Amino acid sequence: MPLRRSSAALAALLAVSVLLGSAPCTTVADDHKPIVARVSKDATTSLYTIANKVGGVPLLLDLAGPLLWLANCPSPHRTFPCDIGVCKVANWNHPPNCPYTPTTECSKGAACTAYTYNPVNGRCGHDDATTITLVANATDGKNPLFPVSFRAVGSCAPGELLASLPAGAAGVAGLSRLPLSLPWQVGYRLGVPKQFALCLPGGSGSDGVAVFGGGPFQLLGSPPVELAAGILQNQLPLLRNPKINNGAYYFQITGIAVNEHKVPTALGAFDIDSHAGTGGAVFSTVTPYTALRPDIYRPLHDAFDAAPSGIARAPPMAPFDMCYEASTLGVTRLGYAVPNIDLMLDGGRNWTLFGGSSLVQVNEHTVCFAIVEMEPSMPAAANSPAVIIGGFQMKEHLLMFDLEKGTFGFSGPLSGIRTGCSNFNFTMGST
Ligand SMILES: *[C@@H]1O[C@H](CO)[C@@H](O)[C@H](O)[C@H]1NC(C)=O
Ligand SMILES: *[C@@H]1O[C@H](CO)[C@@H](O)[C@H](O)[C@H]1NC(C)=O
Ligand SMILES: *[C@@H]1O[C@H](CO)[C@@H](O)[C@H](O)[C@H]1NC(C)=O
Repeated sequence: MPLRRSSAALAALLAVSVLLGSAPCTTVADDHKPIVARVSKDATTSLYTIANKVGGVPLLLDLAGPLLWLANCPSPHRTFPCDIGVCKVANWNHPPNCPYTPTTECSKGAACTAYTYNPVNGRCGHDDATTITLVANATDGKNPLFPVSFRAVGSCAPGELLASLPAGAAGVAGLSRLPLSLPWQVGYRLGVPKQFALCLPGGSGSDGVAVFGGGPFQLLGSPPVELAAGILQNQLPLLRNPKINNGAYYFQITGIAVNEHKVPTALGAFDIDSHAGTGGAVFSTVTPYTALRPDIYRPLHDAFDAAPSGIARAPPMAPFDMCYEASTLGVTRLGYAVPNIDLMLDGGRNWTLFGGSSLVQVNEHTVCFAIVEMEPSMPAAANSPAVIIGGFQMKEHLLMFDLEKGTFGFSGPLSGIRTGCSNFNFTMGST
């Protein structure tokens, strides 16, 4: 079952379907094709936005977000009664740090309020639940094909909630495992699998890509390369945090190794504590650099620092506490020639961080260790996971999530096969 509260989910989804079915004037493709959207990186904040053609405005991409929300809804806007299932679902998961303060009991005919969360600064607000029209291109996994428009259930939000988001972002697109997230609603609305592929761009000048609804995934190269089939054959289980059903993408790490030597960590250091809801490894697109709990960060830091030889240290530059002089490092196709870091996963698999993922260039002369110690002030640290895999480590890899099976898969660094996330062919193809 995709959800623990599956019967409640089913009831709510039926409610979603009734609402969406009654939405007037939407053009919906009936041939069940996935959709494609550009993903951009904001140079100032290092956060990612996803293109969405409602008024041409981008939304912050929040992999762990439960909802879609748009600030400054037009008035009037569509509302829902508060006593229907979808309203309960919109409020299932209370954002961390946002106390649940029901202002009024739901009285017959009152409008549904949704609690909205800014995943960057941790602020929350509440406003009317509504429908949001989304426009994207259908895709065959190679090109955009034709525009598709559909309505999703989301929320309005107060304008102040846009603080800390990239300039120009109009709201947030939550991509979590909860039933009002974008991948669930695309799946539901367009009749496609509740799967998505995410390829975050490395540079702020180039666009990456997200495909919702399964199917092949091709990037240009010589020759073009189809990546989905191989990744789908090598899926790993996603985990749930039984204490806080927050829809985040948790997975199992069993250990970390540097240069194939296991870094000493306490037994069970990476596991989810099912009573406290803490621990575990999660993906976060709103955390620029992978953050580790101090008891994991320190030994990794020391092991990495001990391993390279003949490399000159440079003064630390916040937020990084270990930097090197770039001129003393060799460079390969996978980045700087430094020891590999293996994130050891289920079934003996590894996610290997090569130099391109473990070191970040901070200026012409200096590179820094691109993994940081977790701080309580990071919004993604609110539930105290052990490991937060951040944008810098996810970029230029293809990640695929299957919400129905509860699995995920990933490619190695795309530079290793001479392609990259900006190589999706966005030229309109023909059907
Ligand atoms: C569809 O793709 C074309 C070609 O890339 C692009 O110009 C257009 O803006 C896209 N439409 C939407 C709704 O994203
Ligand atoms: C995974 O990494 C560990 C530690 O570096 C190593 O011992 C093991 O051989 C790797 N497994 C695979 C399948 O590469
Ligand atoms: C991109 O797609 C278009 C439409 O299918 C095709 O004509 C063009 O050759 C493709 N570009 C490359 C570089 O393959």
